[in-house]
Amino acid sequence: MKSYRIALIPGDGIGKEVVPAAVGVLKAAASEFALRFEQFDWGCEYYLRSGRMMPEQGLEQLRPFDAIFLGAIGHPSVPDHISLRELLLKIRFGFDLYANLRPVEILPGLEPPLRSKTAQDIHMLFVRENTEGEYCGLGGRFKRGTDDEVAIQQAVFTRKGITRIIRFAFEQARRRPRKRLTSATKSNAMQYSLVLWDEVLREVARDYPDVPVSNYHVDALAARMINRPETLDVVVASNLFADILTDLGGALQGSLGLAASANLNPTGRLGPPMFEPVHGSAPDIAGRGIANPIAAIWAAALMMEHLGEPLASQRIMEALKTVTAEARIRTPDLGGKNTTEEFAAAVNEKTPKGTHRARP
Ligand code: NAD
Ligand code: IPM
Ligand code: MN
Repeated sequence: MKSYRIALIPGDGIGKEVVPAAVGVLKAAASEFALRFEQFDWGCEYYLRSGRMMPEQGLEQLRPFDAIFLGAIGHPSVPDHISLRELLLKIRFGFDLYANLRPVEILPGLEPPLRSKTAQDIHMLFVRENTEGEYCGLGGRFKRGTDDEVAIQQAVFTRKGITRIIRFAFEQARRRPRKRLTSATKSNAMQYSLVLWDEVLREVARDYPDVPVSNYHVDALAARMINRPETLDVVVASNLFADILTDLGGALQGSLGLAASANLNPTGRLGPPMFEPVHGSAPDIAGRGIANPIAAIWAAALMMEHLGEPLASQRIMEALKTVTAEARIRTPDLGGKNTTEEFAAAVNEKTPKGTHRARP
């Protein structure tokens, strides 16, 4: 029987609550193959004990796994620029996971918060550039603590980096029924990096004459997501722009607790892909057992799809959709009173077990 090794990094706050919920569903969905989980206690508590977010050889430890499943990182006792850069961003950058896929869809039974829009109107896939741009981490501070203090944070955009993410976005668009690609930049104000992005978009577009392309400035695109979401299908954007737009995407779905993501390297392998919710560690609700596990469960389905187990992925998504459609069990972010565990148990119960059914 085929077997996959999954590295679990629950991390901090609600990460520790939603990861076990998703693992329970993954175990229920694994029938024609086996999943072997190994848990790593890396995160802010580990940092407070050891002075590091993960061991020095952490990436080496992760490298042999088939996938990484991460909850969330961040705790008020550790500065975010340390905790996130030394763990989450280290994995994304270290393994060159340059494509971050973030679906924005309305699950059955959930009302889109936009009153005039239906579930059919909101069906987007964000393709976020994940390894350069505004997040490259180059820069420094000068004359610290003085009135003359200077901080420089460089954004780096490379022709190679832009080309590969835009090409991947076109490939995604080509596979979808609506086959549209939208790119978000801000080339009216950023005359070097994002003008290069727009040029590369036009060049790559020549190879995809079957995919209509639109290009908006990111501010206009943010408004379009609210006013005319039905015109958006696949959206490609830089690291920071797509970060912001996908929290807006989570809000459009009804809660940040619904937004899932896959960090991939579609063209090479420096390490395993990583799957995670879009949301953070939510210190405001952590420890109460009320976090919505949908984003984590959805990320688990993305993981099975990308591991080459589409039937298991479908089983998870169908079980999830059956539970949301029944509208009986909801966590408080969606107006309900149920706990993380109650929701996950309901999905678990609906996940067909021990089946080898081929679905049409
Ligand atoms: P957040 O995503 O943690 O929370 C924003 C709001 O959404 C909060 O009100 C929270 O309660 C709510 N929320 C988020 N996920 C939810 C869920 N599953 N169910 C119900 N409600 C949910 O963002 P933040 O407050 O800006 O950040 C908190 C910490 O998380 C910070 O340390 C930040 O740096 C970190 N962070 C980590 C990641 C990650 O690890 N991937 C992502 C974003 C933020
Ligand atoms: C996300 C998060 C991270 C990001 C932070 C925590 C570094 O917000 O995955 O969306 O900006 O990439
Ligand atoms: Mn984010």
